[in-house]
Amino acid sequence: MVMEFIAKYHSFFVTGTAVTLFLSFFGVIFGVVIGVIIALMKLSKNKLISTLAASYIEVVRGTPLLLQLYIVYYGLPRLIGMELPSMALGIIAVSLNSAAYVAEIIRAGILAIDRGQMEAARSLGMTHAMAMRYIIIPQAFKNILPALGNEFIVLIKESAIVSIVGIADLMYKTDTLRGITFKPFLPLVIAAAIYFVITFTLSKLLGIVERRLRAGDSS
Ligand code: ARG
Repeated sequence: MVMEFIAKYHSFFVTGTAVTLFLSFFGVIFGVVIGVIIALMKLSKNKLISTLAASYIEVVRGTPLLLQLYIVYYGLPRLIGMELPSMALGIIAVSLNSAAYVAEIIRAGILAIDRGQMEAARSLGMTHAMAMRYIIIPQAFKNILPALGNEFIVLIKESAIVSIVGIADLMYKTDTLRGITFKPFLPLVIAAAIYFVITFTLSKLLGIVERRLRAGDSS
């Protein structure tokens, strides 16, 4: 019965999974880009800039993602006076949320680099910005990479929330199937299996990458 169900309705799961992966992938990419900026802002010596970044992180982490999604989804088009595709709004909401978490990962990664690295770079005549760009951030990035991979996994799961505003991700497609087939349970189990296979596989791959990176350290 399960096999028949999958044979008949697999396209729902396939397109839903594609949307979920698309959303999470771009969510984490933009999350990292914005997150790096916020992390650097928070590390800034300028009080105003660092307070601004700290506030962003606290507010985003201190409010539900669902609420943030609603604010972006219903508020942003009004704010800019222009309709945007649902998918774009979903990616914006997810990235803005992710950026706050990524910023803390990156800040911790930068602070973990020995101060001697910055001092040595500065003594070679590099400006602070150059030292950050060429010496500190590349080293920090290596330590941070596993945590960023983890953020991708988190987003694959957390992005299910966008189904609430009608973005046709895996969760949304699953709900659609529950409605049209009058089978309230089976689609949920299949969706759970799909989410799990994706996150489990990614987590194993991440483990391999992590071990490789560490192997590089000892040589
Ligand atoms: N479930 C959390 C919330 O409602 C979202 C956490 C997002 N986490 C992340 N690492 N991006 O706020």
